[in-house]
Amino acid sequence: MEMVNMLRRVPLFAELDEAELKSIAALASSIEMPKKNIVVQEFDPGNSLYIILSGQVKVSTYSIEGREVVLALLGKGSFFGEMSLLDEEPRSANVSTMQDCKFANIRRCDLVPLLLEQPVISLKLLTETASRLRKTSSMLKRVSSMDVPHRVFTYLVDHCQRFGHQGADGLYRTILPTHQLLADQLSTSRETISRTISQLKKDSILQQGEGRGNMRIDVDKLEDMLNDF
Ligand code: CMP
Repeated sequence: MEMVNMLRRVPLFAELDEAELKSIAALASSIEMPKKNIVVQEFDPGNSLYIILSGQVKVSTYSIEGREVVLALLGKGSFFGEMSLLDEEPRSANVSTMQDCKFANIRRCDLVPLLLEQPVISLKLLTETASRLRKTSSMLKRVSSMDVPHRVFTYLVDHCQRFGHQGADGLYRTILPTHQLLADQLSTSRETISRTISQLKKDSILQQGEGRGNMRIDVDKLEDMLNDF
């Protein structure tokens, strides 16, 4: 698909007219990367913004003990690399591909004039940054104040509300990330996640759904357990 058509579907540029989209498309370079590759390396200098045209990426860093901590998963239509672009500091995290990905890449020198001309793009960038800060703060709160089972319960409630859909029986249908990815997001080990998930299955709060990886989740029960905490 032509770059201009792909950029038209990106929420950041939703307000732009055809001519404006064309001028951004002319500035953007297209990058394709297979899965499990590093796109941005923490501490490297960075002066460009990446827009995800297809695929999914993982934003992560490493703890002092060398454990990977996943800060966010970002998908099609989202962006990354705005932090170094704005504050001119080194990259704040690693970004790697979870699937085959296609990106549009825009250099700082081309993007800054656009941000000054189009306050609506700047506002969207700020809104998304605020939302990411909120998510990171709530993750920090979860990790510092909850035991692992309760971290898993809050994660599942949030995941179901964002990505799941509720069936007529009241249970949410969703696909969960792998146990390793859950462990990296909740600062624990894969084994602890597996034990917690097994217990939730025994208690029928988590049930295997139709199709591979599909789960049915009793969010009401999870919320009750969180309220009792
Ligand atoms: P930058 O610092 O340029 O390079 C790494 C990118 O990862 C960063 O810009 C953001 O786009 C993204 N990033 C860093 N921290 C977080 C976070 N806590 N949540 C979501 N995305 C992040």
